Amino acid sequence: MRRFIIDTDPGIDDAFAIGLMMQSDIEILGITTVSGNNGIDSVTTNALRLVHFFKRPEILVYEGAGKPILRESGTSDGCHGSDGMGNTYLPVGSRVVEEKHAVDFLIETIGSSEGDIEILALGPLTNLAMAIQKAPEAIKKVKMIYSMGGGVNQGNITPFAEFNYWVDPEATQLVFDSGIPIRMVGLNVTEQCIISPEEFGRLEQSESRVASLYYQMQKHYTTHYMRRDKINGAIIHDLLTAATIFDDSIVSFETQDVWVETDGEKRGATLIEPGKGKSVSLGVSVDVAKYKAYVFEHMFGIK
Ligand code: RIB
Ligand code: CA
Repeated sequence: MRRFIIDTDPGIDDAFAIGLMMQSDIEILGITTVSGNNGIDSVTTNALRLVHFFKRPEILVYEGAGKPILRESGTSDGCHGSDGMGNTYLPVGSRVVEEKHAVDFLIETIGSSEGDIEILALGPLTNLAMAIQKAPEAIKKVKMIYSMGGGVNQGNITPFAEFNYWVDPEATQLVFDSGIPIRMVGLNVTEQCIISPEEFGRLEQSESRVASLYYQMQKHYTTHYMRRDKINGAIIHDLLTAATIFDDSIVSFETQDVWVETDGEKRGATLIEPGKGKSVSLGVSVDVAKYKAYVFEHMFGIK
């Protein structure tokens, strides 16, 4: 059984990805939260809400960084709703966040492993960067990081940069420089995967409580995309990243030398430059139909 830690800033699209992971046979060793879409209290509460919703009390939640390693926080433009998950306001249940800090959990868990632990990184890479700085030998045992972030000559928070890597570009560069294998799922593939209102409408027809929750959750996101980007539907960036864990043929990857701009107007931009930066597996194409079929079947039981 594959073993994962989910590092996340839920966030509507994080919530979709976490929902896919929680309904799979992957062993989730823990969820570590990081400030990004919303502040650290909100994203941590949302992680607890999802553990409660999916009735997974064995999955522990560890609170992580409340701000980037060098900069002030940068949160999203309200596209995730006031609760950070599409105003669904799920009950939190009786679970509370662990006393141990997320960075210490990462170091202890990975450091004591056989090198089989993979990370699904769905937010800014601040926690991972802090762990690398504090215990590089331990964190180098990570088998693979699946990171939603970056893009190729595009951005969504600025014309140049994707949100996760823009929030903490120094952390991103630190993780890229660590030598840990990375699969980077960037805007160049996620933005091809718009799920339409009609496709989301299939969730409304379903009897499943999971489908009903995510049908409600996506409404806010879809409204936001139409209002901000004139897109008819929503891009569930983190869900595509999670789906690549299960089916290698959904996104194809190429090894590229990628570095992260940390200064100026292009802060957070990921730049492909042979010989500069570190070797990263960059997602370069996506089978959109296969992605949608996979997540509708495995998240919602809809074929
Ligand atoms: O740019 C998209 C990414 O930023 C997603 O992970 C979304 O949840 C936000 O964190
Ligand atoms: Ca996210």
